[in-house]
Amino acid sequence: MSDPVRLSLSDGVALITIDNPPVNVTSRAVREGLVAALDAAAAAGAGRVVLTGAGRAFVAGADAKEFDAAPHPPHLPDIVARIEASHIPVVAAINGAALGGGLELALACAARVAAPGATLGLPEVTLGVVPGAGGTQRLPRLVGLAAALSLIPEGRVIGAAEAQAIGLVDALAADPVAAARALPLPARAATGALPAPATDAAALAAARQQAARRSPRQIAPQKAIDLIEAACTLPLAEGLRQERETFLALKTSDQAAALRHVFFAERAAMGRGKDGAEVGSAVVVGGGTMGAAIAYALAGVGLTVALVETDAAAVARARANVARLYAEAVSRGKATAETAEAEQAARFRFHIGYDDLPAADLAIEAVFEDLAVKRAVFAALDAALPKTAILATNTSYLDVNAIAEGIANPGRFLGLHFFSPAHVMKLLEVVRGRQTTPATLATALRLAARLKKIPVLAGVCDGFIGNRILTRYRQICDVMLIEGALPAQVDAAMRGFGMAMGPYEVQDLSGLDIAYANRKRLGWKTKPGFRYIPIADRIVEETGRLGRKTGAGWYDYDGGKPVPSALIDGIVTDASARAGIARRAFTDAEIVERATAAMVEEGFRILTEGIARRAADIDLVLVHGYGFPRWRGGPMHWAARTGLAAIADRIAGHAAADPLSWAVPPLLAQAAAEGVLPADADARR
Ligand code: NAI
Repeated sequence: MSDPVRLSLSDGVALITIDNPPVNVTSRAVREGLVAALDAAAAAGAGRVVLTGAGRAFVAGADAKEFDAAPHPPHLPDIVARIEASHIPVVAAINGAALGGGLELALACAARVAAPGATLGLPEVTLGVVPGAGGTQRLPRLVGLAAALSLIPEGRVIGAAEAQAIGLVDALAADPVAAARALPLPARAATGALPAPATDAAALAAARQQAARRSPRQIAPQKAIDLIEAACTLPLAEGLRQERETFLALKTSDQAAALRHVFFAERAAMGRGKDGAEVGSAVVVGGGTMGAAIAYALAGVGLTVALVETDAAAVARARANVARLYAEAVSRGKATAETAEAEQAARFRFHIGYDDLPAADLAIEAVFEDLAVKRAVFAALDAALPKTAILATNTSYLDVNAIAEGIANPGRFLGLHFFSPAHVMKLLEVVRGRQTTPATLATALRLAARLKKIPVLAGVCDGFIGNRILTRYRQICDVMLIEGALPAQVDAAMRGFGMAMGPYEVQDLSGLDIAYANRKRLGWKTKPGFRYIPIADRIVEETGRLGRKTGAGWYDYDGGKPVPSALIDGIVTDASARAGIARRAFTDAEIVERATAAMVEEGFRILTEGIARRAADIDLVLVHGYGFPRWRGGPMHWAARTGLAAIADRIAGHAAADPLSWAVPPLLAQAAAEGVLPADADARR
């Protein structure tokens, strides 16, 4: 291994290069190397130090692997202070990402030169902490209060041009090292010695409000604003002391642990599938909500797409669906009208049927959720495409193995379960059928990486990971309705826990008919050993209210705003009466406890059956597909943090009272006894 920090001297300039692949994080060896290099530069009598990074990053932050350990000297704040106090001027040559601790190093320098493609920011709040090496104190002094408030509380990362515009960098240069060697030093005090910006109560209050809206219940953004305020009102040393204290306290907080967990789970998921084959062209069957958005996403990463529909009218609708997605991109400034037009013309072909399809590498089916229709589609694809083409279904609930029956070479078949809107949502459930080969999975994972999706491997069962847990969650919420809660209360309680939306609001958005069809398919009404709650079925059958698309569902709508419905509340209370249940009050805490316990319980079943390979994958699915609060880490992480034994006990209590609705999965009982979540499937084998 080469030295993580290198020093070279020429023409009186000491060039210090941080070289800690892949992104030069400030791990202990880097910090030690920096101290040694600064010592050596001073001993050699250099007239200037230029600090840069090797490869594509300057310094992309702290070493997340060290987060859980106690800080080990030399500490970054001390190195930052030393750079700022250095008699030999230090100039940062920001060649790439300068994030977190990397930007804090650069802030302490006498001047900063950035490559045009560099990115800069203090994204610490996204990991539940605040900058810990002076960022909250120096950035406001350098760029002012407003700019600091627009960056730190949301962890916003900006490009070099914007950084120059706000005064964060002094110059842009294609070769920042060469420029940093020669840059005339700006005539200003060291960053920490600059006059503090005037405090502005209104701006601070607005920032607090905005952070509360954007990151409800999250501690770090609010603390960051407190610290920025401190930068305005306190001497530097006191501000730095408060910052460090806050950083160290937050580092071990539940929120930081949860956010780190999700971050690592994402990284692991996105790193899979490196050895899959590259896909060059695709067929998408069905150009409705999902098919059009999937096709658009594929075209966006360079694939040519043949979109198949049933007749000319359907092709026209599909074409319009795709055009609408491009128009949105143009209106958001993500494409120009010309490039959008050109990409559609170059990448899209629309087909009625399968007659003259190109020899595509991959086909994704997104037609109606009907087994017979899907089977017919795959029979046609089997005949029309090379026998090596990967065949994928976007089904939400249907049995992937049943859909695959009859096609030649079934090892190439799998589920690719996108989430709506498919070009936006990052989650992708990659569903392994009974015969799906590892090579097919690898190719799917590689495609996912190209689409910048977070792929999660799932096995075949009803609803895979996400919709299966969703179904269970709703079922337990319905049980609470019949026992005494009301929809608006359940929704408010779950939002209070941090869910993006409550379960009934979500159903109104997605349509009550989908879940209705599922319950029918699963035969819940007559299923033995199962506590059937008739409320949702009665709403569909007796009122025809299917959610927002019919103007009413679980709620009435008053100009688009959901309002609790007397009619629905009447059906709920009537259902209790018919079942002979004396309704009782539920507290919000009780609602949250039961609803989350139901998710955890189902999560353990999913692990037991091998549907998910690791608990962290379940967390990714819930966080990225179902609005589970990221800062709680997903249901499985949350359960482990809350205490598996406590959750198992609660479920056992519910099971004693309502054995048709609850049972403690043996794997949960075992995990509760051991005090840890089950290991990854790879490790369990
Ligand atoms: P949709 O009704 O918007 O689109 C279906 C399209 O398929 C229509 O354009 C229709 O003309 C076309 N189609 C029907 N039969 C066809 C055939 N034999 N050949 C070619 N085209 C045909 O439905 P949506 O919402 O796009 O769903 C499609 C699939 O994706 C379903 O399996 C659904 O369960 C699944 N899915 C839906 C999600 C959603 O949020 N809407 C999320 C994830 C999966």
